[in-house]
Amino acid sequence: MTTSDQQWDALAQAAIGIMKMAYAPYSKFKVGVAGLMDDGRIVVGCNVENASYGIGLCAECGMVSAIHASGGGKLVAITCVDQHGNSLMPCGRCRQLLWENGTPTTQITTPEGIKTLTEILPQAFGPDDLIARKETR
Ligand code: THU
Repeated sequence: MTTSDQQWDALAQAAIGIMKMAYAPYSKFKVGVAGLMDDGRIVVGCNVENASYGIGLCAECGMVSAIHASGGGKLVAITCVDQHGNSLMPCGRCRQLLWENGTPTTQITTPEGIKTLTEILPQAFGPDDLIARKETR
């Protein structure tokens, strides 16, 4: 499935819009993410921090929760932005979350252009490994 310019624009607008809703009083680093699903809907998330710093939620965590809360499916295209609306690379943990909820060819905007999840998380660990490497006894 190819993502149209119009869809990329919609993702950017959605990511910027939700970034403004972020709760980031500690880092002051607001993040917004938007994902285009395989059924055409757009799902969003923003970071939500906590006074117990280590348990803050990344924007991608919120988006993944919203994906499942709104019917599931697979991510086709993703845009993650910082507080200036510039493309932001998801942290390592969040790349793993995206991997589980996308496909190897899911597209994502990066400061170096559009890439696939395989490119930003090479040799990923995923659900297939649990099956392939399962103990037999
Ligand atoms: N953050 C995200 O929301 N997503 C990322 O992929 C990178 C980091 C948030 C976590 C924290 O609230 C703030 O950005 C600064 O690290």
